[in-house]
Amino acid sequence: MHPMLNIAIRAARKAGNHIAKSLENADKIESTLKGNNDFVTNVDKEAESLIIETIKASYPEHSVVAEESGLQEGKDSDVQWIIDPLDGTNNFVKGIPHFSVSIAVRMKGRTEVACVYDPMTNELFTATRGAGAQLNNSRIRVKQAKDLQGAIIATGFPFKQKQHSESYFKVMSSMFTEVADFRRQGSAALDLCYLAAGRVDGFFELGLKPWDIAAGDLIAREAGAIITDFSGRTEYMKSGNIVASSPRGVKAMLKHVRENANEGMLK
Ligand code: IPD
Ligand code: CA
Ligand code: CA
Repeated sequence: MHPMLNIAIRAARKAGNHIAKSLENADKIESTLKGNNDFVTNVDKEAESLIIETIKASYPEHSVVAEESGLQEGKDSDVQWIIDPLDGTNNFVKGIPHFSVSIAVRMKGRTEVACVYDPMTNELFTATRGAGAQLNNSRIRVKQAKDLQGAIIATGFPFKQKQHSESYFKVMSSMFTEVADFRRQGSAALDLCYLAAGRVDGFFELGLKPWDIAAGDLIAREAGAIITDFSGRTEYMKSGNIVASSPRGVKAMLKHVRENANEGMLK
């Protein structure tokens, strides 16, 4: 196993176990608003500290980009750990047991290893570039859907950017004429892992941040997914607008996106 994946897994398990334990004492969860409909809790922050501590113990010189504490430039700026300590904070706050810890390592801008851990199901999704994706050490693969017939598509509503609602729901209702159904489960990192594991057939969302998707991106691609932005290019890490599925699935989803999203989203 790649030594950095080993550390990423150790960090994700520590953070995940802390999050799960904290859910048992729900009255001690303090939540504050940090942006539009955007909540953070003491548990997000504690989980993030545990992850950074674990990484720094083995790799003190690496750089870190973490959702709650931002960029910590290390001596080695070529290696960057991208961390979402709790993806699915809204679920966590409401006691809905669906959230994850997401950790990816990028070297010179390319993601090399990734892990997403769901502490409630004890499911660990991992990937190393060029070596496939695994769920609890067993190989996973994307379902090779030919079109959207019968497809279940995961998505997320733009609840932090409601100015995009109109475009978003146009895309969704156009896609709904063709797919079987949608799932809005509340953790973009797990949405990409569920695509990787063949549990859903596609995923799209807009305005995501690098820490939401860095790990899930490698896991889904190593499982055979194609991932693009809303115009079919590969700039989704910058725009946060993402479409992911089998090669044919992406083509079919992009048709609805291109016909219905506003111009700004298609740039
Ligand atoms: C959120 C989740 C959610 C997605 C949001 C993200 P957070 O992350 O991934 O599924 O719809 O866009 O911001 O805030 O819970 O870490
Ligand atoms: Ca997130
Ligand atoms: Ca988060």
